[in-house]
Parts: sequence; C-alpha cells; structure tokens
Amino acid sequence: MGIVAIGCDHAAYEMKEALKDHLKERGYDVKDFGTDSEVSCDYPDFAKKVAHAVADGEAEQGVLVCGTGIGMSIAANKVKGIRAAVVGDSFSAKATREHNDANILCMGARVIDIPKAIEFLDIFLDTPFSEGENHIRRISKLEE
Ligand code: RB5
Repeated sequence: MGIVAIGCDHAAYEMKEALKDHLKERGYDVKDFGTDSEVSCDYPDFAKKVAHAVADGEAEQGVLVCGTGIGMSIAANKVKGIRAAVVGDSFSAKATREHNDANILCMGARVIDIPKAIEFLDIFLDTPFSEGENHIRRISKLEE
C-alpha cells in the first residue's frame, strides 16, 4: 500500500479523522498535516502542506477536506504537478482518476456525509489512470 497525505480545516476535522482511520484500516500509511481540532483555521495552510507532500513525492496521493472542498482544491492546484479534484459523486470520483490522473481528492464536509466521503475515497483509490494517449496529451497541456 502507498502513502497518502491528508489535511483539513476546522469545518471538516471530523471527516478527516474518519477518512484517516479508513485509510489506515485499508493498510495505507497516512501523513496527517492537520488541522487537529475544530478551532477556526485557514484552509490554504493545510492545502499547501498536502500539495507539496504529493508534488515532492513524499506521498503518492492526497486527500483534502474543508466545508465545500472548493477552497482546498483552488489552493492545492496552485502547486505545480498537482491535479486536485473536488468530488461529490461516484462518477466524478472514478472519472477524475481515469481521465485527469487526479492526485488529490477534495471533498466538502458540508456537502456530503462521512459514509459518502468514504465511498468516494475508495473509488478514487481503486481507480487507475486510463493511460489513454488523449488523456496523457491533455494532462501534459496542464503543465504548459
Ligand atoms: C470555512 O468556513 C469554509 O469557508 C471552508 O471550509 C471551505 O468551505 C472553503 O472553501
């Protein structure tokens, strides 16, 4: 099993803890970059830590959760090499791995419940990149 970097803000602390437990149960090594409570904090601080861990190869994949998942994705996608996707349905969880080779999964604790987040995390982890020539070409254009 691989290494997964995880982070959250105050709005998604409970979800982050549940996802972390689930990842460990599945046999992943988890690097938890916080936050560590429901005290108000700033999501970019945690998004940057997780994004750099993934971009630098310290972790293979990342998970970022906040109220909507949106702020986390905006922040994470500013780091070169990061393809962070906000997911709120099972189709997108699968498609963003197959088509975008997404390396960070973002979800919103004020949008979906914890069982759904675990379901989408499992799909994300278990879906390989398609390796399709068209998708490789499109992803390479993201780095231009
Ligand atoms: C925090 O109130 C909220 O703005 C944050 O969790 C997130 O939803 C931002 O995108």
